[in-house]
Amino acid sequence: MNDAPIGMFDSGVGGLTVARAVLDQLPGEQVLYIGDTAHGPYGPRDIDEVRALALRVMDELVDSGVKLLVIACNTASAAVLHTARNRYTKGRGVPVIEVIHPAARAAAHVTHNGRVGLIATQGTVDSGVYEDALGVVPGISLTSQACPRFVELAEKGITTGPEVLDVAREYLEPIQAAEVDTLILGCTHYPLLVGPISYVMGQDVTLVTSSDETAKDVYRALAKRDLLRSPEAGAPVHQFRSTGDPAAFAGLARRFLGPEVSHVGRADAVTGQAGPGAPA
Ligand code: DGL
Repeated sequence: MNDAPIGMFDSGVGGLTVARAVLDQLPGEQVLYIGDTAHGPYGPRDIDEVRALALRVMDELVDSGVKLLVIACNTASAAVLHTARNRYTKGRGVPVIEVIHPAARAAAHVTHNGRVGLIATQGTVDSGVYEDALGVVPGISLTSQACPRFVELAEKGITTGPEVLDVAREYLEPIQAAEVDTLILGCTHYPLLVGPISYVMGQDVTLVTSSDETAKDVYRALAKRDLLRSPEAGAPVHQFRSTGDPAAFAGLARRFLGPEVSHVGRADAVTGQAGPGAPA
């Protein structure tokens, strides 16, 4: 048993879709989540920059005493997974879970015609990480499309309406033309726009997200190492921090994750100083 929190992070609010699934599957666990909103979006950045930013946030999480790290961001998973496993798992005994292989695994199970679509950030698409993950499965072809505006819209809290629908129609056209039967939402922000994406793709295309599969990996990793939180430890208390404006993050986080977000503090991953945070 280990009563320390699970550390999770993303460039912003997208990773909350993974945090939601973790809290649903592991209701006794505590989460410490950092949204790196001062540096998001990660998608258009150079991979080395994303790696440096992600390591700074993960250093803060590990220094805060988390028992397991979840990279709740595809772009950061593509950029930093190997380094993170060396630095935190080998170096400090903290297991690292990522979101790409769970989504790829789910898509490989779901597809019937072998034509799989991927929508993700530019960084994730350019990294080729989904081609690598699916390349081991015979008979699968991948059609990829970067959708950077989806992240901007989600970070502004715009998840429905005509603007989202127009952007979705434009981005998804090549994916539709490829006649995929499965679409990977390869960015943790995109499930926040699942209504318009599903409407444009139609009911015959199965949408795959990493949230539930990643949460299963978290459960497995904790159970295997005897790291689950003890039932006697009391009601879980979650912590949320952002590197940008905590009040703005708190508003969106309450909407996207739920009432578990009672207070958002300032992460010290940027300035090296902890700030006062936003009142609940
Ligand atoms: N949510 C992230 C991902 O899964 C990052 C989006 C971004 O910051 O561009 O890739």
